[in-house]
Amino acid sequence: MGKCCINPSILSADFVNLEAELARIGTADAVHVDVMDNHFVPNLTIGLPVVQRIQEVSRLPLDAHLMIEDPDRWAPAYAEAGLASVTFHVEAATAPVKLARDLRSNGAKAGMALRPATPVEPYLDLLPELDMLLIMTVEPGFGGQKFLDITLPKIRRAAAAVRGSGLPLALQVDGGISAETIERAAEAGANVFVAGSAVYGAEDPAEAVTKLRSLAETAAPAP
Ligand code: DX5
Ligand code: ZN
Repeated sequence: MGKCCINPSILSADFVNLEAELARIGTADAVHVDVMDNHFVPNLTIGLPVVQRIQEVSRLPLDAHLMIEDPDRWAPAYAEAGLASVTFHVEAATAPVKLARDLRSNGAKAGMALRPATPVEPYLDLLPELDMLLIMTVEPGFGGQKFLDITLPKIRRAAAAVRGSGLPLALQVDGGISAETIERAAEAGANVFVAGSAVYGAEDPAEAVTKLRSLAETAAPAP
């Protein structure tokens, strides 16, 4: 399923010093940017103008996670802005196949996210349209929440479906990922890990990334 990636979430970074905060995660694979609209989730973060500016200054590729209503309308602009990867929530999308195609045709990888209670099975036929499946391991909306172990069977089933499909799809997990939980998620088959508080709450965020990656690589099932 491809190599293991650690994508720190800047939701736990200092929003007034984002450029300096990006410089503290040089060992990361990508920067996870959480966009929240206070409708899909009960929290509000940043929107396209700020994300465009982060895209201009970041040395690392950007991985946007759109926790917004009507992604069909708003998500393609994030792909047009040059982001490496744009993830929408399937619960909010009206036409996920068309949206995934729009994202890809604008040059971004297309990601689709599932809330903890959203089953993966109804969406397995969509896998060829996607580059990444994001399984939320907390209810989206806030950093610093506890990892939900009830999502592990879904990660296992999704990983088996991805393996069975033969597609080069990444399986991302987001929420409560730390040195205490990353091995469980990796063992279940996730290979892209978002971590906010575990990275930015550490004294040395770059070292925290390296440590998380090595834990995930050791716990990952043999290919
Ligand atoms: C939550 C966001 C996450 C969040 C993760 O809704 O999607 O990306 O920043 O934060 P931690 O790692 O602290 O759970
Ligand atoms: Zn996120």
